[in-house]
Amino acid sequence: DELAGRWAAQAHDHKASDGEYQRIMSDLAFGKDFSDYMAHAIWTKDGGWGEKTLQPYGPLPVTPGTSVLHYGQEVFEGLKAYRRADNSLWLFRPAFNANRFNQSARRLALPELPVEDFVGSCVDLVRQDERWVPSEDGATLYLRPFMYASEAFLGVHPAAEVTYLNIGSPSGSYFQGGFSPVSIYVSEDYHRAGPGGTGEAKTSGNYAASLQPQEIAYEKGYEQVCFLDGETNTYIDELGGMNVFVVYKDGHVATPALTGCILEGGTRGAIKQLLAEEGVDVREERIALQELLDDIKSGKISEFFACGTAAVVTPIGKLGGEGFVVDVPTGPLTKHIHDRITDIQWGRAEDTHGWCYRV
Ligand code: COI
Repeated sequence: DELAGRWAAQAHDHKASDGEYQRIMSDLAFGKDFSDYMAHAIWTKDGGWGEKTLQPYGPLPVTPGTSVLHYGQEVFEGLKAYRRADNSLWLFRPAFNANRFNQSARRLALPELPVEDFVGSCVDLVRQDERWVPSEDGATLYLRPFMYASEAFLGVHPAAEVTYLNIGSPSGSYFQGGFSPVSIYVSEDYHRAGPGGTGEAKTSGNYAASLQPQEIAYEKGYEQVCFLDGETNTYIDELGGMNVFVVYKDGHVATPALTGCILEGGTRGAIKQLLAEEGVDVREERIALQELLDDIKSGKISEFFACGTAAVVTPIGKLGGEGFVVDVPTGPLTKHIHDRITDIQWGRAEDTHGWCYRV
C-alpha cells in the first residue's frame, strides 16, 4: 500500500492500560474517549509541511496568543474506521474527506495537505491504534483530522504556522437511542451560515454558531436544531451537523440543494447515488419550511431523515418551531438506505463503487 508508512510512530510510554482499555471499549458512546496515538505535522509558510509523525495522544503546548484561540482559523473532517467480521479494517471514501478538507482549507486561508498525506495519516493511525477499532456491531474508530492556526500572533492574518492533527475516538452511536426517531426544532431567529460565508466549509465557527440555537432546541425538548437559509429564512438548509432528506409518497426524494451555505456531506452524496441507482427520482432543490409542513400535514410526505458520518442515517419523528409542531411519519426507506450504506461499509454488500478503502 503506497499510502502507508508516511507517518512514523514515536515511542509511547503511557498507553491506556488493559483495565482502562476494557472499561472504554465496553461503554462506547460518541467522541468521549481517545486512542493511544495521533498523527501530527506542522506547516510553516517558509518551509511547508514538516515531519509527519504519530505521537502519543496527549495535551498540546498552546501559548495563550495562539491565533486559533482568537480568530478560529481551523478546519476539520470526520470519517470512520470499520472492523469487519473477518477482522479486516476499512475506511469509507477517505479521498472524499481529503478533498473536502482542502476545499475547507482554501476558504479559511489555510494550507492544503496532499490527499496522500491525509489518507496516509488515517491509514497509519488506524494501523497503529488497531486495538481501538471496536468489533461491536455499529461501532467504529471515529477519526477526526483537523488543522489550526498555531502561530502566536494577534494580528488578523492567515497563520504562518499551522498544525495538523488526526485523532481517533472509539465510538458507538451518535444518538443515544441509536436508529430511532429524533425530534428537530427549526431555528428561525438564528442561522449557521449566510451567502458568501463559511457554510460550505467544515470549520469550527459553523459549529460554534449552531450551539446557542441547539441549546434553545434542547430547552424546548428537541434533540437537534434545523437551520433555515440565512438570506430569506424560508428554506431548510441543514441540521447542526447533518444533512436532511425528504421522502414523498409519490416516490421521489428531495434534499436541499447546495447553495454555498450547506456542508456537502459524504453520506448525503452516497445516499443520492445509491437511491438514484435504485431508480428513485432524487432531486436537489430548495425545500421551503412552509411547504414541508403543509406536505407533512396533507400526507404527501412519508419520511424525513437526517444523515451524516457520525449519525449515519437517522429518522426524524417530530418537527417543531415557533408556533407549530408536527409528527412526521416513519417508513421503510430510511431503514433501507441506512442498511444499504452500512452493509457496504461493513462488507456485507458488494462495494460496486470502490468506496471502501482497505487499511
Ligand atoms: C460528522 O462526522 O458527521 C460531523 O458532521 C461532525 C459532527 C456533527 C459530529
